[in-house]
Amino acid sequence: MTGGGPAGPVRTAVVTLARPAGAYDVVSLAVPAAPDWSAARPGQFLVVPGSPGRGDALPRLHWLADVSVDPVHGTAVEVAVPAGGGWDLGHRLRLLGPLGRGFGVPTAPVPALVVGHGGSAVPLRWLVARLRARGCAVHVVLSADDPDEHFEVASLRRQTATVRLTAQPDLGRVATEVLEQEPRIGVVYAAGPRASVREVAQAAVAAGRSVRVSALDLDEPLLCGTGLCGQCDVRTTGAAGGRSLRPCLHGPVVPGEQVLDAPR
Ligand code: FES
Repeated sequence: MTGGGPAGPVRTAVVTLARPAGAYDVVSLAVPAAPDWSAARPGQFLVVPGSPGRGDALPRLHWLADVSVDPVHGTAVEVAVPAGGGWDLGHRLRLLGPLGRGFGVPTAPVPALVVGHGGSAVPLRWLVARLRARGCAVHVVLSADDPDEHFEVASLRRQTATVRLTAQPDLGRVATEVLEQEPRIGVVYAAGPRASVREVAQAAVAAGRSVRVSALDLDEPLLCGTGLCGQCDVRTTGAAGGRSLRPCLHGPVVPGEQVLDAPR
């Protein structure tokens, strides 16, 4: 491991496993042990710097799908990449991470609603596992542009009280329905395109529930992921005046109230 700048440490990772999961390959990476892996949370991400010499100028950002820290077997990090993305066994790569602020879980076992769309749902299986470990009953609402893009739904069904699949424009409406049907839900989590997380945040706040959202959409190509370019900025227009939020630096997970009035 070498030291990094403000963006975080640069690490060398080795691909140890790749298995197909619908539209994705779930890739396991062996990484050097470090305290920030032990503290990693769903909602954090990795940046794989671009390689202009290979015609790959932009960095690639990947959600952490899971992190396992084992003193005997080492530290393993999972990411999901497009199926056939060329992450072959033994491939070595440099990466930055874990970056950003992830989803926390409640201190008490309160029922939770988890909402996500497409590739933004990659961290949610891990989030659900952590909620279940805390004793929280979990309800899930997912959408995807293609059925193959639902990430590990079978695993989610085994861990949760309910899973509802819908279309992206209906995420906010379905989240509202679940909140009406399950009045004991105390906390809502959302990840997806900006318009979707805003609608889910509005539904949660209207229902008086606590809400955390991921304000970064990695299905969009991004220029840096380390706070330098401003491409991911969310500008809001609240009564207190306009604000700007830079999710890759100040999030990506933020209180839902911060995106309630973000434009589409
Ligand atoms: S992607 Fe460049 S500042 Fe966030």
